[in-house]
Amino acid sequence: MCWTVLLLLVTLCVRGLNGEGGGQAQQPGHVSVVIVGGTGDLAKKYLWQGFFHLYASKVSSGSTFSFYAGGLSPADKAAPVLFEILKAVTCSKNVSRERCAILKEQFLRLSQYRQLTSLEEYQDLATHIEERLQEEGMKETGRLFYLSVPAFAYADVADKINKSCRPADGAWLRVVLEKPFGHDFRSAQVLAAQLSGSLKDEEMYRIDHYLGKQLVTQILPFRIDNKKVLDPIWNKHHIERVEIVLKETLDVKGRISFYDQYGVIRDVIQNHLTEVMALLTMKLPKNLSDSEEVLQNKLQILSSVLPLGKKQAVIGQYQTYTAEVQQELNKTKEHVSVTPTFAAVLAHIDEARYQGVPILLTSGKMLDERVGYARVLFKNDVFCLENHNALHCRPKQIVFHFGHGSLQYPAVLVSKNLFKPVLMDSEWKEVADHTDVSVLGLPISDYYVQTPKEQREAYTELISHIFAGRRNSFISTENLLASWGLWTPLLSSLASVYPRIYPGGADNGDLLDVCLKGRDLSYTNEVVLIGSDQMGGVGQNGFHVMQGKFRSSDMVSGWSEELVERLAADVEEAAEAAVGQSGVFHLALSGGSSPLALFHRLALHHFSFPWRSTHVWMVDERCVPPSEPDSNFHTLHGHLLEHVRIPYYNIHPMPVQLNQRLCVEEDGGARLYEGEIGRLVNGSSFHFVLLGVGYDGHTASLFPNSKEDKLEGGLVALTESPVKPHRRMSLTFEAINRAQRVALLVMGKGKHELMTQLSRVKDNPNKYPVTGVKPANGTLVWYIDYDALIG
Ligand code: BG6
Repeated sequence: MCWTVLLLLVTLCVRGLNGEGGGQAQQPGHVSVVIVGGTGDLAKKYLWQGFFHLYASKVSSGSTFSFYAGGLSPADKAAPVLFEILKAVTCSKNVSRERCAILKEQFLRLSQYRQLTSLEEYQDLATHIEERLQEEGMKETGRLFYLSVPAFAYADVADKINKSCRPADGAWLRVVLEKPFGHDFRSAQVLAAQLSGSLKDEEMYRIDHYLGKQLVTQILPFRIDNKKVLDPIWNKHHIERVEIVLKETLDVKGRISFYDQYGVIRDVIQNHLTEVMALLTMKLPKNLSDSEEVLQNKLQILSSVLPLGKKQAVIGQYQTYTAEVQQELNKTKEHVSVTPTFAAVLAHIDEARYQGVPILLTSGKMLDERVGYARVLFKNDVFCLENHNALHCRPKQIVFHFGHGSLQYPAVLVSKNLFKPVLMDSEWKEVADHTDVSVLGLPISDYYVQTPKEQREAYTELISHIFAGRRNSFISTENLLASWGLWTPLLSSLASVYPRIYPGGADNGDLLDVCLKGRDLSYTNEVVLIGSDQMGGVGQNGFHVMQGKFRSSDMVSGWSEELVERLAADVEEAAEAAVGQSGVFHLALSGGSSPLALFHRLALHHFSFPWRSTHVWMVDERCVPPSEPDSNFHTLHGHLLEHVRIPYYNIHPMPVQLNQRLCVEEDGGARLYEGEIGRLVNGSSFHFVLLGVGYDGHTASLFPNSKEDKLEGGLVALTESPVKPHRRMSLTFEAINRAQRVALLVMGKGKHELMTQLSRVKDNPNKYPVTGVKPANGTLVWYIDYDALIG
């Protein structure tokens, strides 16, 4: 059938059915839609359905359309695939069966497949469109190219469109792009620059499908419609906090080659959740349909978010993720991925209105339920003496419930102790007949609930916005770069943080709960991931544990945070056992930076540690006055002793300064310390000695190639370090190896090479002093973090 007859027929049939004339058409004219990648997954699942909805809703107003699926395959292969996809589109509830059948048939006829690989093929497409327009004598409204192709192909396709498919003056060109729009600020900038060589900013429609979710599209209208009540309370005086949450139950199998490069922050937080945050906090535009104003206000709020660093985030990874990566990316069993599949981030906005209001953005895979929402929780200053269940005592909150969860449908919920919101518009309805469900701590009957009369896919919604040229539903280049500008520093700082491993699903329990302390965020749960009673395999909670042997001694290994938690727990356990047995605990601590995390842990989390019965000794000391930052005692004091209740007379700094001189042999400092040990420590056998290892294999202040004679015999010796300050005082092997328990703590990637060497060499204390640590009657445990162990 020729095009003229077909288009006429389509228009007439549909108008006839609708009983409408042509007078209502707003901008009648012809629109060519080209989905590049038109037989791919996204097109199949959402795009054709969206364009069918557009067609069905616009055709009766006089607009005409032609649809093209572009692809790399030849037409004889791809056309049948397209046909199957098109057959499956469905009509809205309010369209009669008869009309639906006609619409579908016409849609099918107006759609065709075209192979689009070379510039010539794009030129042929353009010629085809132009010839048809001429034949029909139709005015062209515009050309819409939807690039449903991998991001690396964007620049090339955009270039071909620019060179061959631009419409004549008076008609628009709109090119739609899907994320990822870069991987960080720099790559987003490069991609934007490449695209700007072919397309004007106003021709680019970057899609974030969250901006098409019905609930998300209503955030600004809701704020505007309820401005009178919201204005006085939408600020730091009334808002307790904002939570923007996307929880998912699925894993990422099947898309790991993408996901492993991106992780949860890039995948959904940098875009979807950030957009929601902007809509909730941006200044309200005077005119909602002024795209420029909306985008500018959004830009302003994105630029006001305070910088994010690793103290503002926690990350996690579901337990089977690494195995899935190994399998899907053909990696060996040694390969470890540190890509986070869960993250919680605490943001603050640097504006008087929101100063101090915590904004929590959270998302993860393999969680207990699938749900997405934004919750604005208000302060409740009511004190209830008796009935804590009374409505006015309950949480005051507004929930934009995007979907799924216990409620199962999208809705905006306002707790009844807050206010009754204005009904959104004619496409929304109030829900009054409540089922027995609770949403975020409140039974549904405690809320005013509104939901869309008809649920629509986000893509369908956005496709109609592209047609209408509503650019504020898309991501402008400026806003994209502002968002990457916010997230890139955090992503870089998290690159050295290992995600907490979680088992997945309901087993996560409270493992991923977080607590907000001022500007910082941390996990609430201090769970020790490494089971103390198991060697290797899977621990009680189903976590992967790493416990085994290193240089024939026991080894505990984990992410640094958990490793330190475990070591602190072990120290406390040893302390309790010693105090229980002999009323006293003798602990010898090393200098260096590795033990700092342990000191913090002990000071801030071990409130029942028997400090009053603990004696603290130094493993080694630099020959500097204790008031200098270089002094190990100075560090220990600042990071631990100052914060715990330990009697002064139980603290034993090394006497490096005697007679106003530093470490002079004749002053006998080493002998003095030895004597003190001998007097107070039973058999000169410390209960617990904490050691570290230097890059050259030194431990305590026992360095390679030192004169062994100096180290033998006594318990304490003056030694020489190859690095400044050269002179040191140290416990000798004799003292260390008398201990009941020795812990060797090794952390950081920098130690990986040394660990590899140490795992291979025989005992050689002269070359690698640490290999001389061999408690005679006690035990040695290596605590090695994954950085040092795996590299
Ligand atoms: C996509 C992410 O952008 O959003 C997916 O790539 C994620 O990883 C999805 O699952 C979530 O979208 P929705 O609409 O299911 O909440």
